[in-house]
Amino acid sequence: MSNVTLTIDGIKVAVPRGTTVLDAATKAGIFIPTLCHDPNLEKYGACRICVVEIKGMRNLPASCCTDAAEGMEVYTKSEAVIEARKTILELLLANHPRDCLTCEKNGNCRLQDYCFYYGVKESSFNGIRKNHPIDDSNPYIIRDHNKCILCGRCIRTCAQVKERSIIDFAYRGFNTKVATAMDMPLAESECVYCGRCVAVCPVGALMFKPLKGKGRAFEIEKRPVTCTFCENGCTFDLNVKDGKVIGVTPREPGEGRPLCLKGRLGLELKYCDEPPKPMLKKNGEFVQVPWAEALEIKDLINKIIELD
Ligand code: FES
Repeated sequence: MSNVTLTIDGIKVAVPRGTTVLDAATKAGIFIPTLCHDPNLEKYGACRICVVEIKGMRNLPASCCTDAAEGMEVYTKSEAVIEARKTILELLLANHPRDCLTCEKNGNCRLQDYCFYYGVKESSFNGIRKNHPIDDSNPYIIRDHNKCILCGRCIRTCAQVKERSIIDFAYRGFNTKVATAMDMPLAESECVYCGRCVAVCPVGALMFKPLKGKGRAFEIEKRPVTCTFCENGCTFDLNVKDGKVIGVTPREPGEGRPLCLKGRLGLELKYCDEPPKPMLKKNGEFVQVPWAEALEIKDLINKIIELD
């Protein structure tokens, strides 16, 4: 494949034709913020935080969806670019709870990081605010729609899972939200709680419930561990706090993020100091059950006891 050479912030970069400006900048070590972009998902171009200035173009294109071209001159830190990014952040903040002091994602939130980076403290856009109930209906995932920035990463990730695709955008305009079919709570949907959506959420809209309240991002050490439940040998992160394994999470995108349910839950059982208790849905409610019942071997065990 032929190469194209472009200049980004005065640095010459040669990349294969078809490479996006964002990837070319990353190759040159130049930082461009992203929210809706995920290297493991198709191009999307929804949030516009990655805009850049390109000589000869009237608008500021999204670098994650613009292909690098021969002779292109790209500016990632011009006044217009910074102004646009600040405005986007202000628009997002206009409808964000801003409860960073108690948010589980504090220290691990892209919106927070970018507001810090660009010095955005307040929003000059005031209006109606969202007031969605928090979906806490299941033992695994907490959904807070009020923190959702509608980047669509969860939707696109869920769509990659065979026989799932259980969430999508629903409603319109200001009322747009990510919802299950008929906007039911997750517990009443076809969700299998694989946690892929949580792994890709850039803000605090989706959280792993078992990790809630167990520690701030900066207190948790991530220790890579290789999964042995299939021949792929993927790497997950053990979440360690005060020497104890408190959970297992998929690695960051770009590091070959494994998202399989068997791997993550299997490793939780294997490594966690307090492994999760099995839960079964009975009459529409999640209830804790003994392992024998969860594994559907209760009858077998009873027979063995009878034989004794
Ligand atoms: Fe490029 Fe969202 S990261 S448009």
